[in-house]
Amino acid sequence: MKILILGSGGREHAIGKKLLQDNPFIELYFYPGNGGTNKIGKNLETNYSISELYFFSKKNAIDLTIVGSENFLLDGIVDIFKNGGLTIMGAHYQSSRLEGDRMFAKSFMKKYGVRTPQYKVFTSYQKAINFLKKTTYSVAIKTNGIAEGKGVFLVKNKQEAEQALNYIFIDKKFGKSGNKVIIEEFLKGNESSIISIYNSKEIIPFLSAKDYKKIGEKETGSNTGGMGSISPNPYMKNDIWIDFKKNILEPTLEGLFLEKLTFFGFIYFGLMITSTNKVYLLEYNTRMGDPETQTLLPLMKSNFLHIIQSTFMKKDIVIAWKSLCSCCVVISSKGYPEKYENGKIIKGLNYLKEPFYIAGAKKEKEEWITSRGRVLNIVGLGKSIEEARKKAYQKVQKVYFENCYFRKDIGL
Ligand code: GLY
Repeated sequence: MKILILGSGGREHAIGKKLLQDNPFIELYFYPGNGGTNKIGKNLETNYSISELYFFSKKNAIDLTIVGSENFLLDGIVDIFKNGGLTIMGAHYQSSRLEGDRMFAKSFMKKYGVRTPQYKVFTSYQKAINFLKKTTYSVAIKTNGIAEGKGVFLVKNKQEAEQALNYIFIDKKFGKSGNKVIIEEFLKGNESSIISIYNSKEIIPFLSAKDYKKIGEKETGSNTGGMGSISPNPYMKNDIWIDFKKNILEPTLEGLFLEKLTFFGFIYFGLMITSTNKVYLLEYNTRMGDPETQTLLPLMKSNFLHIIQSTFMKKDIVIAWKSLCSCCVVISSKGYPEKYENGKIIKGLNYLKEPFYIAGAKKEKEEWITSRGRVLNIVGLGKSIEEARKKAYQKVQKVYFENCYFRKDIGL
């Protein structure tokens, strides 16, 4: 069986490793992939457009394509592959707008009673500022487009709000993504990520996870693609799961059905659990999270490929999980998410125990070399988060490159 995985990070390496571990005879292809994915399959080296990827898949009889990264979804790859008779796991364009178009997502949530923070939409700096004058200025300001995850500002005062709006409307730092902004009620609490499989009939959640988004310890500094994650999320207690299912998952499922947003793929719920134990939906993604996937897949007992195949057949899906906890520490290049240097030699990787994933490194001759901001995802498993965390950090000590950086508080 030939499987093509689309994306280039640790998530795609984790998906590939899990598939291969459960099904040693599959053949894996990655586009564009990274140094790690090239070790377990074949990276497609040429630059491909979506239609070239389609022709490649047809010509090479790819049996299944799994979309890791959202860009492919927003470019409509699922529509093109499906129309041409190929099997692809991911949201078609209209559904991927739940991730790529924040106004579309918020209107969907409002229409179907999915619990989400209150919000207003603005198309100009002045209107947004006039509105904020009547508030405490403690809000989330978000660009309508996702802008590679960078278009979110959590502001606390007038100066920060003006700065964010300036950046979006006057400097136009986000281009078209910033033509509209959503100003959202700012909720305090604990975040939780729920990744799920959607088979056009049911939404089947994975274990819960928690993402550490900021570059600095204690959630300080700039937003990143994620500096670590743990699973399960200790804040997702039973009553919170019940609240999530009733007020978020079920209305989402109803909305997807009524809006005819049916596909075979993943839905990610980015949640906020408030101090009053209420769950709010901050965002949908229509893909698996990174680095949450890297903590979740090592805990999955079921054969992931069989689960994906059952999804296409709309069969009932029960996912079995190991009774363990998982902690993933991201090692990045110093300076990320701003300016950083590539090309550093990584020591210690050849002897590192599984699980770990390459996020941004390549093999040159016999050496592993850094090639991106986020470089490695090191995972520890244990009977508790504390044990998983300890194991992850013991492994982190075994690898080194010049100017490497990692947060020391993942799982604390
Ligand atoms: N970890 C959050 C994301 O994948 O967007």
